[in-house]
Amino acid sequence: MGRPVRVAVMGLGQRGLQHLKSLWSLRDEGVVQIVGLADAFVENLAPGKIAQYVPDYAPEGIATDASVHVVMRDAAPDALFVAIPPGVHAGEVVAAAEAGVHLMVEKPMSLFLDEAVDMERAIEDSGAIATAGFQQRYSPRNEAVRDFLADKRVVMVNVVHNGALENHSIKHTPTDRLDGPRNRVWTASMEWSGASVVEAGIHQVDLMRYWCGDIEWVEANYAHRDASDIEDGGDNPYAYRVAYGFEGGAIGSLIMSRLRKAYYNDGYQGITWTHGHVKFEGRDAVAYYYEGPYPPEQRPSAEQLRHVLPAAAGEDPTTGLARAFVEAVATGSDAGLRSTFAGSMNSLSAVLGANISDHLGGERVYLADLTRADRYAQFRRRPGPAAA
Ligand SMILES: NC(=O)c1ccc[n+]([C@@H]2O[C@H](COP(=O)([O-])OP(=O)(O)OC[C@H]3O[C@@H](n4cnc5c(N)ncnc54)[C@H](O)[C@@H]3O)[C@@H](O)[C@H]2O)c1
Repeated sequence: MGRPVRVAVMGLGQRGLQHLKSLWSLRDEGVVQIVGLADAFVENLAPGKIAQYVPDYAPEGIATDASVHVVMRDAAPDALFVAIPPGVHAGEVVAAAEAGVHLMVEKPMSLFLDEAVDMERAIEDSGAIATAGFQQRYSPRNEAVRDFLADKRVVMVNVVHNGALENHSIKHTPTDRLDGPRNRVWTASMEWSGASVVEAGIHQVDLMRYWCGDIEWVEANYAHRDASDIEDGGDNPYAYRVAYGFEGGAIGSLIMSRLRKAYYNDGYQGITWTHGHVKFEGRDAVAYYYEGPYPPEQRPSAEQLRHVLPAAAGEDPTTGLARAFVEAVATGSDAGLRSTFAGSMNSLSAVLGANISDHLGGERVYLADLTRADRYAQFRRRPGPAAA
C-alpha cells in the first residue's frame, strides 16, 4: 500500500462533520491522513465542538484556518472535501483544481450553472479526480436496483417525497450573522438553498439517473408559498411537480412538498420497466414481475410475482463514497467512482432547470440548451449587486 491520501475538509457543519467522521474511520485504517480543516466561522473548528460529532477527534498535526487557501498552502492536501452552503462558493473549487488538488464537492455543487461549469472546466483542465456528494449511489439496495435494471428498458420512474419545511435541525452556518435566517435553517430559504428540489430533490434526481440514465428535458410547476406564511426567510414553495424526459425514452416525475408546522414525512419511489416494476418496501427493494409460462392458466398470486432483490451488506454510504474517492486519488483512476463531478452535472442541470421551467410557466427546458443558450443566460449567472 502507498502512503495515506492527505485530505483537507472545507466547511465543518452538518455535512462536513459527517465526512470527517467517515474520513476518521479511514484514517484508522491507514488509508487517509487528515491534514487540514477550513471554516470561515472559526468556532466551528474548535476541537471540543468537532469531538461532539467525531468522538475520537484529535487536532494534533491538523492545520486549521478560516481560509481554505491558507489551509491548502500550509497542509498541502492531495484532496479537498468541500461542504459549504451552495450559494457561498467564491472560487475555492477552481483554485483547488488549479493547484492540482483532487475534489469531493457536496451537492448541489452551486446554485448557478455558470459557476458549476467553471468548476467542471477547471477540474477537466487540471486532470483532478473529482466527485460530488451523491452518497446514495453507494447504498447497497440502490445498487441492487441498478444491477437489476441494467438489461431492462425502463419506461417510467416516479418519486414522491412529502417533508417538513423545518426538516434540517442542526445547521452550523451562522446565517443569523449574514442577513439570512435567524434559526439557521437555510435549507428552507430559496435564496440560500435554491428551492427544496435543488437542495433535497437533487438526491432523488441523481438516483433516477443512476437507475435510468441521463435526463434530456424538464417541465416543472411549483405551488409557491403565500407571503403571509413565510417565517424567518423560510420561503421555499409548498409543493413541486416536476416532469422529466430521459435520453433513453423513459419518463419520470418528482413530486415534493415542504409544509410548515406539519412535521410529517412520507414517500414513494417506483421504477417501471417494460414488464414489471420495482419499489421499496421497508429496507428491501422489491421487483414485481411474472416469469412463468405465458399466458398463465390462472392469474398469478402476489407471492409468485414478488421478488426481493439481493443486496450486498455494505458500509454506510458516506463512508463508501469517501472510500471510493480516496482509492481513486491513490490509484489515479476514477473507474471506481459511481459518479464523477462532470457526470453529476446532468443532475444539477435537471434541478436548476426545474426552477427555470417553473419560472417560465412550466415550459419544456432541454438540459443541453441550459448551459449555452442565450435564452437562459440570466438564470445561469450569479446575481450581481443591484445597480446603484
Ligand atoms: N450529501 C448529503 O446527504 C448532504 C447532507 C447535508 C448537507 N449536504 C450539503 O452539504 C453542504 C453543506 O451543508 P451543511 O448541512 O453542512 O451546512 P451547515 O450550515 O451545517 O455547514 C456549513 C459549514 O460551512 C461553513 N461555511 C459557511 N460559509 C462558508 C464559507 N464561505 N467559507 C468557508 N466555510 C463556510 C459554516 O461555518 C459551516 O460550518 C450543502 O451543499 C448541503 O446541500 C449534503
